[in-house]
Amino acid sequence: MIHTRICDLLHIAHPVILGGMGTATTAPLVAAVSNAGGFGTLGTSAFNAATLDSEVASIRERTEKPFGINHLLFQIQEDMFAVTLRAQPAVAAFAWARKDQNLRDYFQRAHDAGCKVMFSAGEVPEALRAAEAGADVLVAQGTEAGGHVGWMASLPLVPMMVKAVAPLPVLSAGGIADGHGLAAALALGAEGVLLGTCFMATPEAPIHANFKQAIVKSDGHDTVLTEIPDLASQRVWPGAMSRAQRNQFIERWAGREWTLRQNATEVGKQVLAARAAGDVNNASLSFGQDAGLIDSIKSVKEVVQDIVKEAEEIMRNRLPALLRQN
Ligand SMILES: Cc1cc2nc3c(=O)[nH]c(=O)nc-3n(C[C@H](O)[C@H](O)[C@H](O)COP(=O)(O)O)c2cc1C
Repeated sequence: MIHTRICDLLHIAHPVILGGMGTATTAPLVAAVSNAGGFGTLGTSAFNAATLDSEVASIRERTEKPFGINHLLFQIQEDMFAVTLRAQPAVAAFAWARKDQNLRDYFQRAHDAGCKVMFSAGEVPEALRAAEAGADVLVAQGTEAGGHVGWMASLPLVPMMVKAVAPLPVLSAGGIADGHGLAAALALGAEGVLLGTCFMATPEAPIHANFKQAIVKSDGHDTVLTEIPDLASQRVWPGAMSRAQRNQFIERWAGREWTLRQNATEVGKQVLAARAAGDVNNASLSFGQDAGLIDSIKSVKEVVQDIVKEAEEIMRNRLPALLRQN
């Protein structure tokens, strides 16, 4: 059994964490990951204060295990953060702060509520900023990841961040969907992995069945870093690009961003309608390069068990066999 410092810190059996995902995490998925011995995190950007409150209650009905609640700092709303503080989850997770925000203040309030603080960063200076503000766990999010990402790939980012914020534990996020990824993350110095895309391809995930199939069908080579989804939603993230499948929606607007800006309200509505209808050609499909490692829809329990088992096998057999005694 693989056991790391994050298992002790979060009181979990396996160092496998579900990243909070705005539109792709609801109570059944969060609770399933925690019940499988990992750690579920609820994204909040699809909720308001009242619906967040009831979603958290729904998680608690489904599991007694620890879980987290994630806030995107650049658009954090005080009434929603208050719901999180009242709920006292094991972890208050944050990402994407604006330069002018006072991280220490948010982190202190989370600590006062009894939460550990997790912060996701795509570059080392941002991780150091969070560490200095009192974060307990850093997530090194590589550019392979689905959703909003920075420019650094995990292979250099994880060890650099581990060194920079030591002794704080670091999780590796982005591009991981199997035991090879978990074993590699541990070899890079991470204490565990934080996953998004592979938990979206589960029956428990709250996304349209067609989007799950799009992940299964993807060979992982068909995503791009783009600002087109954000131009359509008219939401400016502080420095993020979005990794999404290069589908007809992206193709239609690539190179025509100025026209998209002019028509954003109308296009934004069309994208939302396409999402609701499960239209994989005209919706914005955010998923990571690890879609190429995902070949079927598996239950959350299977995902967690398969990743852990495969990583154990690699660490127990393949890697030691490479060492010569001489
Ligand atoms: C659809 C989608 C929505 C996401 N929303 C959030 C979010 O609201 N907050 C956050 O910190 N990370 C968010 N992420 C990033 C994930 O937490 C995680 O870093 C990423 O999915 C890991 O890479 P992977 O998808 O390759 O596993 C999102 C990712 C996806 C795919």
